[in-house]
Amino acid sequence: MSVIRTAVTGVGAYLPEQIVTNADLAKIVETSDEWIQERTGIKERRRAAPGQCTSDLAVEAAREALAKAGKTPADVDLVIVATTTPDLTFPATAAIVQRKLGVPVCPAFDVQAVCSGFVYALTVADGFVARGHARCALVIGAETMTRLLDYADRGTCVLFGDGAGAFVLEPVEGQGTTADRGMLGFALRADGQKQDLLYMDGGPSSTGTVGHLRMVGAQVFRHAVVNIAEAVEAAAAQAGISVPDVDWFVPHQANQRILQGVAHRLGLDENKVISTVALHANTSAASIPLAFAEGIADGRIKPGQLLLLEAMGGGFTWGACVLRL
Ligand code: ACO
Repeated sequence: MSVIRTAVTGVGAYLPEQIVTNADLAKIVETSDEWIQERTGIKERRRAAPGQCTSDLAVEAAREALAKAGKTPADVDLVIVATTTPDLTFPATAAIVQRKLGVPVCPAFDVQAVCSGFVYALTVADGFVARGHARCALVIGAETMTRLLDYADRGTCVLFGDGAGAFVLEPVEGQGTTADRGMLGFALRADGQKQDLLYMDGGPSSTGTVGHLRMVGAQVFRHAVVNIAEAVEAAAAQAGISVPDVDWFVPHQANQRILQGVAHRLGLDENKVISTVALHANTSAASIPLAFAEGIADGRIKPGQLLLLEAMGGGFTWGACVLRL
């Protein structure tokens, strides 16, 4: 049976120039390179320059993704930005990106699911593309997380970084089998009861400020390892594959120990895990496309391969996606 699938036809990434090492942070808070590396696997992260906004990072990643797909901004007919660090409360960062890129009039909006934002945005875009409502969708994960941090809180300020990654999505014809190129299965989850474990302590309608990121790290950690596995299995079941069949596991890059814990729980070979957490830290919604772009750039991820993406973040939100490149 012929079906329309949503294929990834271009991937791009952008990291700001400034590198912040663990040693740099140890000058600000009581921490050490040894503690950060041992507990998280993080060695360094990037920080956006003063005046460099989330949309600026997004535009750089989008330009690269469009070039890789052989497309121009004029071809784009849907822009979705997954971000928790918008330039402004409104307009949506996607509309700012649309303007800066010169994309013609089309739907452009943000998806806010914190670190799970990219998986959520891919699912939304799949709804447009596979139903014939978009022929060239730009889905971007872009964050300036360093702007949300309380640099007096060593439990959080060492964990996050800035960056952006982008996918170009186009419709392709498939046969309705697991051999098809494109998105094959999704599972999205949220549990608002867990809000107090990971949240911002400010917002436009509560404090009138941006606030700072607050997290009960150990409980987030436990939830991540246990619950991501269920969503991954559900996405795999919808795709009609079994998890060990995947060629690459591209998880949200929160903590190397979470990546290993999830891979272990899923029975996945650790050599199949794409990990960028050491050099990027947690870039929230940007981390999956950034890791994906790195896997392509270094030749590990190849066309035709089966990929498993997953993320968990504030809300709590979490989710997984299976696709064939
Ligand atoms: N340097 C040195 N010591 C520290 C630091 C630091 N940067 N941070 C915390 N500590 C101390 C604590 O104060 C505590 O000391 P105490 O025992 O004297 O009280 C001790 O280290 C242990 O603290 P824990 O929080 O229990 O340490 P844990 O091993 O759990 O590691 C970490 C903390 C790295 C935050 C871990 O819990 C984690 O990665 N959690 C998950 C984070 C995550 O996945 N977030 C993803 C979502 S993010 C989003 O959606 C925006």
